[in-house]
Amino acid sequence: MYEVQIMGTGSFVPEQIIKNDCLSNFVDTNDEWISSRTGIKERRISSGENTSDLAIGAAKEAIEDANITADEIDLIVVATTTPDFFMPSTACLVQKGIEAYNATCFDISAACTGFIYALNVGFQFVRSGQSKTALIIGADTNSKIIDWSDRNTCVLFGDGAGAVVLRRSDEKGIIHIDTGSDGRGDELLFCPGVNVKNPFVEELDEKKQFMHMNGKEVFRFSTTVVPQTIEKLLKKSSYSIDDIKYFLLHQANARIMEAVAKKMNIDTKKFYKNIHNYGNTSAGTIPIALNEMDKGGLLKKKDLLVLAGFGGGLTWGSALVQWNK
Ligand code: ACO
Repeated sequence: MYEVQIMGTGSFVPEQIIKNDCLSNFVDTNDEWISSRTGIKERRISSGENTSDLAIGAAKEAIEDANITADEIDLIVVATTTPDFFMPSTACLVQKGIEAYNATCFDISAACTGFIYALNVGFQFVRSGQSKTALIIGADTNSKIIDWSDRNTCVLFGDGAGAVVLRRSDEKGIIHIDTGSDGRGDELLFCPGVNVKNPFVEELDEKKQFMHMNGKEVFRFSTTVVPQTIEKLLKKSSYSIDDIKYFLLHQANARIMEAVAKKMNIDTKKFYKNIHNYGNTSAGTIPIALNEMDKGGLLKKKDLLVLAGFGGGLTWGSALVQWNK
């Protein structure tokens, strides 16, 4: 088995900034409610860019940061719930956009945990020797599946993408990844696909392709499952909570991060937050924040980080990473 390092990070978000107050043009809400309940102040919303455009932007930055050429990439995995097409995959569109024609490309659907799942796939491919250089992306254009007349959801989400380049290495990098799913929670967070429609079935009512969420239950689920996955992750390694420099959680709600920190008795200062600027970009939140931490010089060699996600499915997962970039 090889060691697998994160060699480069990148992110890309639409230019258009939508502040909380602007949302009161569509729904009965206000900045005070949104910021006090979620921590969100503004989000980036697409002016026409689709998920592949965001993913390509993030990929280009990660490739440059890793100091590699696109033809060295032999695997592209995109985690997204908002692909441009049913087919081709967003990963194939990225391949074309960055001209990485030596790569095998596919998408992963695990909602907001998507990036952790995709990182695990990349980790296993590179660790086993199947792949040498993998491009792992989390990208979502949530604005296209949001019901802009539903104040319970439209205030929470934004659009964006983040990427990492993984490479075979002699130094430690990704140490361990824990993932889990529970399909019994399918109704807590979902977005319908298209109905079955063919000459042999009775036509059903057209389902609206909008995201639906039971906010209270998702809050309960996430504050239960995140401590569990992190504890499991650390148990499998030789490290303890005190060894971890930063916890980077999926940015769904600042209050979720605060509740997890309290439950685990960890200083909230160790939890990196950028939700105020971007809202919840689903699969994008973790790699966008990782890129910000990297560019901002927060991460030093040998620092230990825990990344943790949760989302629709239900799905969850966490990754223990030693920063050796
Ligand atoms: N503006 C103003 N009022 C609002 C808004 C809004 N945008 N949304 C709801 N309200 C109202 C409700 O209607 C309710 O009014 P009522 O008391 O008259 O009925 C009141 O505010 C309180 O609503 P609650 O749902 O109890 O508010 P809560 O404190 O639970 O916060 C929230 C709601 C922010 C959604 C919270 O439950 C939460 O963060 N849940 C987790 C959501 C999440 O993380 N989702 C994504 C995770 S997975 C993924 O990323 C896909």
